[in-house]
Amino acid sequence: MKPILGLLVLALALWGATFLFGESDGGPTLPAPAVSHSSSHNCAECHAQVFEEWSSGPHADSWTGAAVRKLSGDFSNQDCIDCHAPQPVFVTGIAERVLPRIERRVEGVDCITCHALPDGGVAGSFTSETVACRPEATVALTRADFCAGCHDQHQTVQQWRDSRWAAEGIDCIDCHMPLRDGTPSGGRRHGMHGGTDLVMLQSAVEVRGSRVDDDPANGWLIEIENVGAGHSFPTDERSRAADLFWRPAGSEGAWTHLHRFRSPYRYETDVPDTLLPVHATERYAVLDADDAPVTGPIEVVLLYKRSPHYRDMTDPMQDLWPEDPGVDPYATDVPRDAIVVHRLVLGGDQ
Ligand code: HEC
Ligand code: HEC
Ligand code: HEC
Ligand code: HEC
Ligand code: HEC
Repeated sequence: MKPILGLLVLALALWGATFLFGESDGGPTLPAPAVSHSSSHNCAECHAQVFEEWSSGPHADSWTGAAVRKLSGDFSNQDCIDCHAPQPVFVTGIAERVLPRIERRVEGVDCITCHALPDGGVAGSFTSETVACRPEATVALTRADFCAGCHDQHQTVQQWRDSRWAAEGIDCIDCHMPLRDGTPSGGRRHGMHGGTDLVMLQSAVEVRGSRVDDDPANGWLIEIENVGAGHSFPTDERSRAADLFWRPAGSEGAWTHLHRFRSPYRYETDVPDTLLPVHATERYAVLDADDAPVTGPIEVVLLYKRSPHYRDMTDPMQDLWPEDPGVDPYATDVPRDAIVVHRLVLGGDQ
């Protein structure tokens, strides 16, 4: 071990010891928790179900995920370590930008990241000095600001703050960590479903047909409403995209691209931000190749893609741009099929 590194490790060990054994501040000293914060695997023995859910979710993948490894050059870009292998949020401070850690990076955003308190206990919904891991009632864990240190770089948290969800007290965890059995005593699911989950995607938006001026003789308008995302749709990563397509009903013909919902990458200075804002409804007129209103039955599809790159906009299920591998983090090793969120036929019975 290099001397400098040795010193660092020693310093950290001392710092850790201060946490665990509590430097005297004049107050009563709590018993040292019996659970070490050296690895989230230590929690698995007593919290098997939570551990299982977390392991299969995205937070457990923050360090190992193919997309992030590729885009960060296996984390040779050190800026990427901050949120993908962070120090505990309660150590860096709620809503503060998290800081990178040097140990157990492979565990990503883990139990310790979210629950570890600076005094060696864990943040939870009640306080007990006799339970091994020493839970302490910590309301801040349940609030949007807790997620903000990592999830606001694309304004997901800010969008929520400006929404009716925030006004009504519906927090991030109410949608992303639902109660397992509907009661607080059953605990919350830790799988953190987002855009990879069809049920979540379907709950995010509604797609409907209406007619210009509500007259059935007029052309179709496709209406899409953000009914169930607590923020813009699709949210967070700029690489997420949702596309609306239509074609005459009953045909196997080509699809026509109607709209893309997406926030552009920084370098795409000519691409507008077209996310569907929280609570918003937007309408798109369906026009044929000559720009005439389409009045006959149509089929409509809404797709969600983890990566926005298409070769062209006529085939909704098409692959990524092969000629642009430098830009596309998903080119080889991440599933890139589009998810069909909604598919409907309008006017089929008329
Ligand atoms: C030796 C067993 C044991 C270990 C190891 C353990 N815990 Fe616990 N923990 C418990 C028990 C028992 C409870 C109280 C009953 C319950 O809520 O499951 C509890 C409660 C909690 C709570 C509060 C639950 C609530 O409802 O608010 C949290 C949070 C928690 N543990 C997190 C952790 C984390 C994080 C780790 C790993 C660093 C860990 N525990 C390790 C036994 C353990
Ligand atoms: C310490 C940083 C951090 C905190 C705190 C955090 N997250 Fe995350 N979250 C991440 C990272 C990093 C990823 C991406 C993991 C990956 O590489 O796939 C992620 C992924 C997610 C995803 C899945 C996105 C997808 O691709 O499907 C959801 C949903 C999510 N987080 C919700 C939350 C919520 C809700 C909170 C607050 C309770 C929260 N997160 C707290 C860092 C964090
Ligand atoms: C401020 C915190 C933060 C920093 C710094 C950060 N990320 Fe992330 N990253 C996140 C969060 C939160 C998510 C989850 C959002 C989502 O999936 O929509 C995420 C998700 C990702 C994903 C998607 C993972 C997947 O499986 O689809 C990739 C790729 C990624 N980040 C790459 C990077 C790279 C490369 C860097 C460094 C240039 C970086 N991140 C730096 C917070 C951060
Ligand atoms: C992204 C942050 C995050 C991560 C990662 C995380 N938790 Fe939680 N955990 C929470 C939140 C938020 C709650 C809800 C607290 C409340 O309702 O008071 C919670 C609740 C709990 C509870 C209470 C009972 C239950 O089942 O909900 C336990 C126990 C717990 N977590 C343990 C763990 C363990 C063990 C891990 C790692 C395998 C872990 N958590 C990973 C944020 C997280
Ligand atoms: C009313 C329910 C609701 C609330 C509240 C909510 N979300 Fe979401 N969230 C969703 C739905 C539905 C999706 C899937 C559609 C999408 O990607 O926008 C989603 C997707 C996500 C994703 C996944 C992005 C991806 O790449 O897969 C992240 C990250 C996320 N939300 C974070 C948050 C955070 C942080 C908060 C709190 C500030 C929050 N959400 C509040 C419903 C909600």
